[in-house]
Amino acid sequence: MSVRVTPGNPAGAIVARVSRRTGGQVCCDGSAGDQRSAGKKQLILLVLIAFSVASAADPWVAPRSAARRQNPIQNTPKSVAAGKAVFMPNCVPCHGEAGRGDGPASTALNPKPANLTDPKVWEQTDGAIFWKISNGRNAMPKWEGALSEEQRWHTINFLRTTFGKPHP
Ligand code: HEC
Repeated sequence: MSVRVTPGNPAGAIVARVSRRTGGQVCCDGSAGDQRSAGKKQLILLVLIAFSVASAADPWVAPRSAARRQNPIQNTPKSVAAGKAVFMPNCVPCHGEAGRGDGPASTALNPKPANLTDPKVWEQTDGAIFWKISNGRNAMPKWEGALSEEQRWHTINFLRTTFGKPHP
């Protein structure tokens, strides 16, 4: 799972980029270089902290064009079953079986996984939820690529039927 989390985690991406850069430096006989890189590391840490605090506090809003996208797959029992087959292994570790964001992996995460039974989640359009599942943020993985478009739409049909009211 950690492999999947990384691409959806912008902070992780920054760490990877930075460590590649410092790894490329020709170093270290004298202390000056060491001190410089220690200072650099502190700065990087500060930037990372600022970065994760800012995105944890920011509301997560899908772009309007994405929110307007219609779910091409009808919410049938067959689709809900297909969505459940995606949800159980992939989403339950964080979001929990009841969707409340209290899965076993959730304790280590900040921000916590979203409570999918919260009206703030299901009041959004299918298109908005699809965009969030596809792109991820913080510990929420980017599922685009890992799950087909169809699988993501089926999962939304499952989420609505199980945790929230269907969107009109
Ligand atoms: C590694 C843990 C993890 C896994 C696995 C995971 N999520 Fe998430 N999810 C999160 C976190 C953390 C957030 C909150 C992200 C934020 O606000 O920055 C989130 C947010 C969301 C949201 C956004 C809710 C909103 O509107 O704010 C949806 C929808 C969602 N997840 C669905 C899913 C689905 C569907 C799956 C499985 C395909 C899944 N998640 C798997 C951790 C996870």
